[in-house]
Amino acid sequence: MKIVLGIETSCDETAIAVVREDGQILSNLVLSQLEEHKAFGGVVPEIAARAHLDHIDTLIKAAMQDAKIDFTNLDGVAATTGPGLIGGVMIGMMAGKAIAATHDLPFLAVNHLEAHALTARLTNQTAFPFLVLLVSGGHTQILVAEDVGVYKRWGTTIDDALGECFDKSAKLMGLEYPGGPNLEKMAAFCASPQAQKTALEKFPLPSPLKGRQGCDFSFSGLKTSIRNHVEKLPAGDLNREDIAALAYSFQITVGNIVIDRCHNAIEQFFQTYPQGNKPPAFVVCGGVAANKHLRAKLQDLTAQAKMDFIAPPLALCSDNGAMIAWVGIEKLLKGDIDTFAVAARPRWPLDPTAEKRPGGGVKA
Ligand code: KG4
Ligand code: ZN
Repeated sequence: MKIVLGIETSCDETAIAVVREDGQILSNLVLSQLEEHKAFGGVVPEIAARAHLDHIDTLIKAAMQDAKIDFTNLDGVAATTGPGLIGGVMIGMMAGKAIAATHDLPFLAVNHLEAHALTARLTNQTAFPFLVLLVSGGHTQILVAEDVGVYKRWGTTIDDALGECFDKSAKLMGLEYPGGPNLEKMAAFCASPQAQKTALEKFPLPSPLKGRQGCDFSFSGLKTSIRNHVEKLPAGDLNREDIAALAYSFQITVGNIVIDRCHNAIEQFFQTYPQGNKPPAFVVCGGVAANKHLRAKLQDLTAQAKMDFIAPPLALCSDNGAMIAWVGIEKLLKGDIDTFAVAARPRWPLDPTAEKRPGGGVKA
């Protein structure tokens, strides 16, 4: 049974894992750089790259120890080679190539987005084709996974990624980075039906693209609207009640937008793949998939559509090395091995035929 080491360094997590072909995760370590970036309210690429460099050796050693194997027991080394912050990607990729070269092992260049998409196959053995909603700090896409390496991108954001929109809106509300989880916590304080009704009336937010055809997303108007609401409130620190109400209204609006877009994708999926699996799978992945409100809404939607809803456990939804190792295994089994000449790619779309979209949040 194949065993692969997975290395993930494309953003602000140094993540190393060892995974076996049968889906056993032998080790899975994630070192977050949250503290390093907190003061800046976002990920600073140069700081991220240095931190990866400082910790990667120790973490690889620890992951191998946890898995109770040594390099000679490996069948391959997989590393994220894009898309992502290029400095960090280079560090993980070079570490992976060095281990592979030294121990004469196949090197597997992994697309970070593919790793998120295929996590469902690691956890649930999901059969192709399946529908994927990928919502993270850098990406917001609706994809069909047809096979390893074969994707159709049906929707993407035309401006901010959803996680980015959570983080920027949270920052406007005075919440600490990373905003997503903090915003969710605040929204929970807007708990009574009366408070919720008042929140939606006091802080109405736009739903860009909602009701339109297709599966694209737009979130930048939402952030601007939050800014306008905040500016109209009394100067100084916002009171807790207003923050909770803003966060609640934001979360409800985002949930409705995502459901509207996914509804279109599901219709398109049933039309395009009438002979697909019964029931077909709908996979949600990426850091924002941790959001409970979003999960619940997606669960309802997919139940109505009679789809199998798959949300990997939270530790495998956000960035991790196990998902990288898993794509390494899938590639290895197909004989899709890379040479050491493979380059790091800041942008690497999963579907090269998909139309390019403008906007800072579109990293692929
Ligand atoms: O996939 P991920 O760990 O990293 C990449 O961007 O690739 O996603 C991180 C993003 C951040 O924007 C974070 O704020 C968001 O996921 N996030 C959440 C929640 N937990 C993490 N957003 C909303 N609600 C959450 N509970
Ligand atoms: Zn990610």
